[in-house]
Amino acid sequence: MVANADAAVPLLLSEVRNVLARGNLPLISFATGGTFGAFFRALATEVQQGRISTTEFIGTHLDEYIAYEPQRRGGMVHELTLRCPPLREMLARGTFLPVPCHGAEGSMRAHEERLQRAGGVKLQLLGIGRNGHIAFNEPGTPLDTRFHVTELAESTRLDARSRFVPDEPPKRAVTSGVQTILGGERLVLCAFGQAKAEAVRSMLHGDVSSACPASVLQRHPNALVLLDTEAASLLEGNAAAAGG
Ligand code: PGA
Repeated sequence: MVANADAAVPLLLSEVRNVLARGNLPLISFATGGTFGAFFRALATEVQQGRISTTEFIGTHLDEYIAYEPQRRGGMVHELTLRCPPLREMLARGTFLPVPCHGAEGSMRAHEERLQRAGGVKLQLLGIGRNGHIAFNEPGTPLDTRFHVTELAESTRLDARSRFVPDEPPKRAVTSGVQTILGGERLVLCAFGQAKAEAVRSMLHGDVSSACPASVLQRHPNALVLLDTEAASLLEGNAAAAGG
């Protein structure tokens, strides 16, 4: 357990360093969302001060709104590169692999193959929705999916609203599937704040079920969950961090 999102930053940076230390241009898959704001600021500082080099890894991410090209405001890649400008340079150099945003079957398959050719995801960062989603795998999504197009849940759209005002948040997205996420070698999920407490309880104490897609982390042999006290507040015995 960590005190807050800031306190998780050194742990997340050391996850990045661990995977970089193994060499071989590892593929790191990032998550967007407020949860990782402090981490991305810190990662940008590490790169700017020469302690981490963007030539040492390949980057990618989990999901993108339909028709949100990398430069479009509100989109995931736009958000990531705004928070962490070194990722923008990687995108320009072709070492950051954006999720194809138009939802064509062939483009999603090609993306999945590109991730495989890059050696598969070595480190996958994850947030969790208050409805238990991971990436945009909303409750009810089958657990054997790969990249696919999905309809966003109302709670997901509501939580994203502030990014899009005065426009309405998008309704559909391309997302990494549960099966693809489970293929990552190391998974690190972060959840901070009371709004995540119920989803965290279902993820860790509920059955593995599509009702709470994040519950599949129970099946992963190398997963770490970082929680603050509020997100952990509904766990039995108020257990702290859980590792698989
Ligand atoms: P958040 O989103 O980091 O903005 O809370 C997480 C998620 O919905 O997966």
